[in-house]
Amino acid sequence: MKAIKMAENIYRVGANIENGDLFEGMWPIPDGVSLNAYVLTGLKTALIDLVRDWDNAPDELTKQIDELGIKKFDYLILNHIEPDHTGWLNGFLRKHPDTKILTTKKGAAMIEGFYHVTENVSVVKSGDTLDLGKGIELVFEEIPNVHWPETMVTYEKSSGILFACDAFGSYGSISEKVFDDQLSEEEHAFYDRESLRYYANIVGSFSVFVQRAVAKLADLEIKMIAPSHGIIWRENPSEIINRYLKFASYMNGPAEPEITIVWGSMYGNTKEVLTSIIEGIRSEGVVVHVHQTPDEDVSWALASAWKSRGLVLGMPTYEYKMFPPMSAVIDMFERKHINNKKVLRFGSYGWSGGAQKEFDKITEGLKWDCMEPVEWQGRAKEEDHKKAYESGKALAKAIKEM
Ligand code: FEO
Repeated sequence: MKAIKMAENIYRVGANIENGDLFEGMWPIPDGVSLNAYVLTGLKTALIDLVRDWDNAPDELTKQIDELGIKKFDYLILNHIEPDHTGWLNGFLRKHPDTKILTTKKGAAMIEGFYHVTENVSVVKSGDTLDLGKGIELVFEEIPNVHWPETMVTYEKSSGILFACDAFGSYGSISEKVFDDQLSEEEHAFYDRESLRYYANIVGSFSVFVQRAVAKLADLEIKMIAPSHGIIWRENPSEIINRYLKFASYMNGPAEPEITIVWGSMYGNTKEVLTSIIEGIRSEGVVVHVHQTPDEDVSWALASAWKSRGLVLGMPTYEYKMFPPMSAVIDMFERKHINNKKVLRFGSYGWSGGAQKEFDKITEGLKWDCMEPVEWQGRAKEEDHKKAYESGKALAKAIKEM
């Protein structure tokens, strides 16, 4: 990649992570993820955000910085300390030992914790400014809990660029076409999907704070949004802001009039009934997303569930409890605040059942409106298929009225 000019004396530098690693050690990124950093060259030089020592990202960043002819940085501005943006800090400081780090108070404590760095660290707070010369003036604004407590954004006044770090980000590598106005409809559709998955996986639990952050930034004249993952919004920055507000609104509902099914089956007896439920849902013309576990990672089911009003969870009873892979899905849904859903559970049992009892107990605090489950012993009979069809249809009808 090359450094990309965004405005006079302001550049995007960075790297794509495409080595097959999991993001945060747990989320699949089959189409990669970009780590974006930003170089500002006033009379003083600044680098906003950094990279992790990951898939040659530091070498890539260094190459682009060298191409810009920059020998030293006066400032390293760290909006967020999660190691995908700071993991290379000790290596960077060996190359640029005189750089002053600017971050929030909580950020400074994390830098000491993660990297044992305490010298040359200055704390900034909301409203503080930094004049780099040549008309480049930065303003800092704390946006706590989007998605870590130390997080801030940096706004450049003359260009109207908001360096937003994780806020407004997305999974997916980026090409040298980094701006929204350079992408095809298909490419936009890809980042739309991957921004939802990123949001549901990483940011969703903090949706209240996303809403607060957007309200806090409302007075800024934002002409460009430059996140630390994904594309840069130059033509239409309000699109990604509105998209994030829409995603945030799903937490308390209502979400989209769609249904997500997550299912797992041991010998195919639960799987057989899935078709009847889907037919019932489709008879009402409702969009349905289907995810199988443990075959598919929960990352995608989370994204679908986040935006759906209705959930169908299919699992057999396994040793008096839920089929363990589905138990793990529900545990993740609880952790990631998949709240306020209309829910149907279905599944087979071998002798006495028990999955429903555990399901009821575990989902008690989730604000789920659960329908009567569809359960049967062994292989479903015609009447069980009929009940499954009718339950799918009833769920679809209900979510259309929410
Ligand atoms: Fe991209 Fe929260 O780090």
